[in-house]
Amino acid sequence: MTTTIAPKVSQRLYPTRIDLSVEVRSQVIALLNGTLAATLDLKTQAKQAHWNVKGSDFLQLHELFDTLSGELEEYIDLVAERITALGGAPLGTARVAAADSILPEYPFDAVDGPEHVAALADRYAMYAKHLRSAIDRTADLGDADTSDLYTEVSRTIDKRLWFLEAHLIKKSDIA
Ligand SMILES: [Fe+2]
Repeated sequence: MTTTIAPKVSQRLYPTRIDLSVEVRSQVIALLNGTLAATLDLKTQAKQAHWNVKGSDFLQLHELFDTLSGELEEYIDLVAERITALGGAPLGTARVAAADSILPEYPFDAVDGPEHVAALADRYAMYAKHLRSAIDRTADLGDADTSDLYTEVSRTIDKRLWFLEAHLIKKSDIA
């Protein structure tokens, strides 16, 4: 009996007339699929915060976390469709996201506003770091368009990190 080993879906590359080499496209697609996993993960974590936050700041945080989740949903589509434009196959299921995300699991014991805000701020900072390194990596590979995509996402994520951290700063923290 013979068994055939199917190529991993992640290795699939479709032909395209785009003027970027197979080598460049393969590396950028792998990077983008990592970003896709992290973005899917972060989006579900923002929803987790949206559903679970309690305390006196409930309503504004409930709404902020939903805004963050919706924004990340748009980036999921942006990243996935850049993969497709490069001739790659986006890997966007929950199982792949859980396996490949660079982010840690959400702290399920978080209850009040500051706990949820700190959990998301930690994860936004990790995600922001990933995006910033991807800006340079894709630029170095000669894919200015993907680098621009990363720059767009990175700018908003830095802004959202400010929004989150602004809830946590006390006068005694000022240097
Ligand atoms: Fe909701």
